[in-house]
Amino acid sequence: MADMNDVNQDTFDKDEQPALTRRYLLKMAGGALAFGSASRLLSPADILAADAEGKAMKIVMLTGSPHRRGTSALLADEFIAGASAKGHNVIRFDAAFEKIGPCRACYYCDEHNGECIQKDAMQKILPEILSADMIVLVTPLYYYLMTAQLKIVLDRLLSQRAALRKHPMKSAMLVTCGSNTDWNMDAIMAHYKVLLRYLPWEDQEVVLARHVLVRKDIEGTNFPADARALGARV
Ligand SMILES: Cc1cc2nc3c(=O)[nH]c(=O)nc-3n(C[C@H](O)[C@H](O)[C@H](O)COP(=O)(O)O)c2cc1C
Repeated sequence: MADMNDVNQDTFDKDEQPALTRRYLLKMAGGALAFGSASRLLSPADILAADAEGKAMKIVMLTGSPHRRGTSALLADEFIAGASAKGHNVIRFDAAFEKIGPCRACYYCDEHNGECIQKDAMQKILPEILSADMIVLVTPLYYYLMTAQLKIVLDRLLSQRAALRKHPMKSAMLVTCGSNTDWNMDAIMAHYKVLLRYLPWEDQEVVLARHVLVRKDIEGTNFPADARALGARV
């Protein structure tokens, strides 16, 4: 196995954009239907809507909350409702409820053609991301950043970092938090911005829901509608 000194850092810090070889594998609704692990079936209305605009996308959503019915779960549900109404196919993974080990930094992947040494839920998640048109990160703010559960998924992109950098995607981020300062989202936004540049992702918009500690706090706000509208707009 490689140690840290053997690792080629180019794929981390080389400030060079990869060739724009975006693979629209599932651009059309038929493609989305063909995907066995899709979380829902497309209705005929979805297919018509997609055909009319010709831009049905495969969207992978990664959530990071351990609350199945928390504040960020509501934003996730609303985004999916908006995107689905437009004929997009959203595949959602709730990281907190998946078996996903943290990256071991063993760099086994670099010596095994991108294969990770850990056999867990990333085996189903990574291929979906690699063939997606868009990625959506959904997380509550934990100590001013995304949750560890979601960060573990991002760290585990390491094994496929070269392929991912050749696969530009659209992206969005939905964040909730309990506090109500104008700076509480600064760190997570800074992180998101460097991810956009590195991976590279093309931001469609973020929803930053402040001052929503628990579910009832967010239900009476405009944030769920904002998330739904964003889903319908992408
Ligand atoms: C471990 C932990 C850390 C948190 N850190 C922050 C924080 O840094 N800033 C903040 O405003 N809220 C913080 N919160 C509050 C959550 O962001 C907030 O309750 C959020 O709405 C929870 O989302 P969920 O219901 O989707 O899990 C924290 C909560 C927990 C449990």
